[in-house]
Amino acid sequence: MEFSGKVALVTGAANGIGAGVARRLAAAGASVVVADVDDVRGEAVADEVGGVFAHCDVRDPRHSEAAVATAVERFGGLDIAVLNAGIATGFGLGDDFDVERYRTVMGINLDGVVYGVHAALPELRKRGGGHIVATASMAGLMAMPMDPLYGANKAAVVGLVRGLGPVAAADGVTVNAVCPSFADTSIITDIKSALESAGMPVMSVDDVVDAFVSVLRDGKPGECWFVQAGRPSAPFTFPNPPGPRTATGERVKLDHDPLITEEN
Ligand SMILES: NC(=O)c1ccc[n+]([C@@H]2O[C@H](COP(=O)([O-])OP(=O)(O)OC[C@H]3O[C@@H](n4cnc5c(N)ncnc54)[C@H](O)[C@@H]3O)[C@@H](O)[C@H]2O)c1
Repeated sequence: MEFSGKVALVTGAANGIGAGVARRLAAAGASVVVADVDDVRGEAVADEVGGVFAHCDVRDPRHSEAAVATAVERFGGLDIAVLNAGIATGFGLGDDFDVERYRTVMGINLDGVVYGVHAALPELRKRGGGHIVATASMAGLMAMPMDPLYGANKAAVVGLVRGLGPVAAADGVTVNAVCPSFADTSIITDIKSALESAGMPVMSVDDVVDAFVSVLRDGKPGECWFVQAGRPSAPFTFPNPPGPRTATGERVKLDHDPLITEEN
């Protein structure tokens, strides 16, 4: 995929991975809408990449719609939506559980992706197709005992992408997730030294951005790509899921959605 002349929206683009993606896409010739709640850093990244800043709190669907509208007004349309805004949880389900903080983390890490997809799809369809890439996490592919709530919202993003992939592909829109292991951004500052002393390498933002470029170039509908130190990024294959089976245990092959019939 050539990025020159494309229009990209990147949420959470004021810092970390999102800023890295915005820089890389702009350097490759894309026009970028830098969307974030961090106005100061967001404006700075937008200036740096020759893009435009949109104040966007992804918890509010109207903000995602406005960010997409900014892409259309300023650059004439939308080709790529990188739905990347996210936060760490920082609490569990014990005495530290807090409903308000829970709604916040689910609102950003899950609702933010849902609202971003909903806002972006119509404009991507108008261009005859495009790409949506959501930043999930390795925590969405494996058990995450150190932060089960983060694992829950990232697994939900993985489920969203896998289910939406074939549906959006019918309109020429490729939907993927990028699932990084730990990367060197402010989200892991508090745990960085503990991770490294436990033998878990922390990747550079650049390494993660490489994976976004690979996914945008080679991702097939619904694929979720892991990103880890020490091996190339690739789609996770979800080996041998139980899936629908007959009463005697044989796999049921679905070539159409069984809930859609002539009548409904
Ligand atoms: N760094 C890692 O180790 C790691 C690993 C796996 C997945 N991720 C995911 O990568 C994504 C980017 O995180 P990062 O590591 O670059 O962290 P970061 O803190 O550097 O960047 C996150 C960005 O999201 C923005 N943001 C926060 N709340 C927002 C909101 N309500 N609306 C819009 N923007 C908001 C922040 O202002 C910030 O610019 C997140 O989804 C995160 O969960 C990070």
